[in-house]
Amino acid sequence: MPSHESRLVIRRGSDVAPSHPPRVAYLIMICKQPRNGKRGPKLVALEMCLLIGIMGLCLVVVITRNLFSDKIRSGTGMVYVNGTTSIGFVDEDFICATLDWWPPQKCDYGTCSWGTASLLTLDLNNKILLNAIKGEYNKTISSTFSPLKIRLGGTLQDRVMYQMVGDQEPCSQFTESSKELLGFSQGCLPMSRWDELNIFFQKSRAKVIFGLNALSHRNISTDGYAVGPWNSSNAEALMKYTIEKGFTIHGWELGNELSGNGTGATITADQYASDTISLQNLVQNIYKTFEVKPIVLGPGGFFEANWFSEYVMKSNGSLQVITQHIYNLGPGVDDHLVKKILDPWYLDGGSQPFRDLQDIMKKFGNSTVAWVGEAGGAYNSGRDRVSNTFVFSFWYTNFSYRYLDQLGMASSYDTKTYCRQTLIGGNYGLLNTVTYVPNPDYFSALLWHRLMGRRVLSTSFDGTKKIRSYAHCSKHSDGITLLLINLERYTTTAVGLSVENVTIIMASKQLKQLKQTQRTQSSTIEYTREEYHLTAKDGKLNSRTVLLNGKELAVNSAGIIPPLEPIQVNISNPIIVAPFSIVFVHIPNIHIPACT
Ligand SMILES: *[C@@H]1O[C@H](CO)[C@@H](O)[C@H](O)[C@H]1NC(C)=O
Ligand SMILES: *[C@@H]1O[C@H](CO)[C@@H](O)[C@H](O)[C@H]1NC(C)=O
Ligand SMILES: *[C@@H]1O[C@H](CO)[C@@H](O)[C@H](O)[C@H]1NC(C)=O
Ligand SMILES: *[C@@H]1O[C@H](CO)[C@@H](O)[C@H](O)[C@H]1NC(C)=O
Ligand SMILES: *[C@@H]1O[C@H](CO)[C@@H](O)[C@H](O)[C@H]1NC(C)=O
Ligand SMILES: *[C@@H]1O[C@H](CO)[C@@H](O)[C@H](O)[C@H]1NC(C)=O
Ligand SMILES: *[C@@H]1O[C@H](CO)[C@@H](O)[C@H](O)[C@H]1NC(C)=O
Ligand SMILES: *[C@@H]1O[C@H](CO)[C@@H](O)[C@H](O)[C@H]1NC(C)=O
Ligand SMILES: *[C@@H]1O[C@H](CO)[C@@H](O)[C@H](O)[C@H]1NC(C)=O
Ligand SMILES: *[C@@H]1O[C@H](CO)[C@@H](O)[C@H](O)[C@H]1NC(C)=O
Repeated sequence: MPSHESRLVIRRGSDVAPSHPPRVAYLIMICKQPRNGKRGPKLVALEMCLLIGIMGLCLVVVITRNLFSDKIRSGTGMVYVNGTTSIGFVDEDFICATLDWWPPQKCDYGTCSWGTASLLTLDLNNKILLNAIKGEYNKTISSTFSPLKIRLGGTLQDRVMYQMVGDQEPCSQFTESSKELLGFSQGCLPMSRWDELNIFFQKSRAKVIFGLNALSHRNISTDGYAVGPWNSSNAEALMKYTIEKGFTIHGWELGNELSGNGTGATITADQYASDTISLQNLVQNIYKTFEVKPIVLGPGGFFEANWFSEYVMKSNGSLQVITQHIYNLGPGVDDHLVKKILDPWYLDGGSQPFRDLQDIMKKFGNSTVAWVGEAGGAYNSGRDRVSNTFVFSFWYTNFSYRYLDQLGMASSYDTKTYCRQTLIGGNYGLLNTVTYVPNPDYFSALLWHRLMGRRVLSTSFDGTKKIRSYAHCSKHSDGITLLLINLERYTTTAVGLSVENVTIIMASKQLKQLKQTQRTQSSTIEYTREEYHLTAKDGKLNSRTVLLNGKELAVNSAGIIPPLEPIQVNISNPIIVAPFSIVFVHIPNIHIPACT
């Protein structure tokens, strides 16, 4: 029984009504004396208390800050993190982005936003694209960053044929055709292009999920239902070809938005389950000599409780990942997107679908995990000057967590991966469709990818409703990382942090350092944390340029992603969260049971 127990609190003064500066902040560390326990822990506890005593003396400080200027108001808040256990566990590469098939002729509400971003025409020699997926800016230290996960798919995937040796028909690209399903003719993936794509993914070390053509050689009845079973012969040929070439595919996903009511066409849950079993058998068979086989995913569609539960139940454990698509902001043409994004009370379909899915998985899918296979906020390609600007980062960072909030509670049914529509293409690309230059969301994604570890911590925020707070154990490093999202236009909030059940393992080491430094020359221990503040350039929410700690983030002429450098802040200071900002805070010195 570890009897030592301490609590780290960085607290603001009492709740003074906003707009009454100056404010007061101080750090408190409370330590409970151990009552029993063996020598080791007791000693550590004693040292810790000593340390905390010293810290208490020297760190109970008063910082006066005048945060007052014109319209800017100030407020206070407190983040509570429960350090006892983690509440969720995500994939190492939780951050995923998609590449789609839409040709340049894909237009929504009069604008055509896809350019040449299609898988068939994307410029694979573009340096920014390569660096963006690798997620690295510095070759020397690149090994510490894993690349992004990439899902290849989208609406037209079910209408793609894979060109095979001896095919009679020409391998032609999609053409607009209002008579055909989804408004386009069938398209074709030449194997030369498949080679190029795979070589590119090898170079970028991306983990690839490929969406297979579930409508291949299938007729659609007049009521919209696909007739008969999936004809897997074309997919089988592609898999065999891929193996022969030595290309690695992390997962094969069956179909796109054919579940429930479907987009265009529909497949019954019963049929889809049996098609999924066929795909799993195919994978097991074709990859039988492989120690690590690709995973099977499905259905890549919108959630509908009855359809999903029947599907999971009937797929008899053949499904490794159940993929859900979410567009919670409505159509891209909606004029109120920004309002919806900034309104913390905006109810977007609610949390019921997440809970329903969780129940389904509990009941039927012991071996299945959930991913968000595609989420782009607003459907029909997003919206220009919204989906590609700073304001969208509020939706992106918050929404991903909202999902975690809902589904992350039971650790065995977590959302493991979250795929953003898109990496490039449409208005919602992480990269600019024409120039490949990163949009603001790319940097939110990258910071998250680098800083947020696999364990999700239970976090709550006491203060304004317009600040959202989340925490994970840090990635590749000690301590925890907080994410604070401020949807307030005018209020700067000084945020204190309270961590339940913090055990400062570093304490004895630090204490030794302290003793040494005291012996030689009295000085305080340097407890600092790293902060990354993202804001819009010139305070304009529709800016396509984001500032990190006040400095513009931009790729250089060689297409190198800029380093994302934090500022060091004294741990005894409150976290100053500016209006309309997104803040990541890495606190290395906090050690909690949940992260060990
Ligand atoms: C922290 O989490 C533990 C384990 O889930 C729980 O027992 C405890 O009550 C939580 N603490 C608070 C303050 O909610
Ligand atoms: C890359 O990282 C190494 C090791 O940390 C460092 O010495 C070097 O200055 C970095 N280069 C750039 C361009 O940031
Ligand atoms: C699709 O319909 C055509 C025309 O009715 C028919 O010839 C063909 O056999 C059908 N294909 C399948 C796979 O059912
Ligand atoms: C599947 O499609 C291929 C290619 O058209 C065809 O040769 C084969 O007969 C089909 N298989 C079934 C079971 O319909
Ligand atoms: C599917 O269609 C039915 C009947 O038209 C409708 O009641 C239901 O809301 C639809 N489901 C979704 C998810 O759109
Ligand atoms: C799934 O398993 C059940 C029970 O073992 C079996 O009756 C059913 O045929 C299986 N479904 C398929 C499609 O293999
Ligand atoms: C899932 O696991 C639970 C408990 O281990 C077990 O009772 C249940 O039968 C399992 N369900 C399936 C579909 O395997
Ligand atoms: C942010 O997520 C929370 C749940 O975590 C949700 O209640 C809130 O509505 C979301 N806000 C926005 C703007 O999406
Ligand atoms: C702190 O963590 C320990 C070890 O995980 C646990 O036994 C204890 O109950 C926790 N204390 C609190 C107050 O949550
Ligand atoms: C952090 O703040 C404390 C209290 O104000 C001070 O004693 C200490 O020197 C500061 N540390 C650094 C690195 O500035």
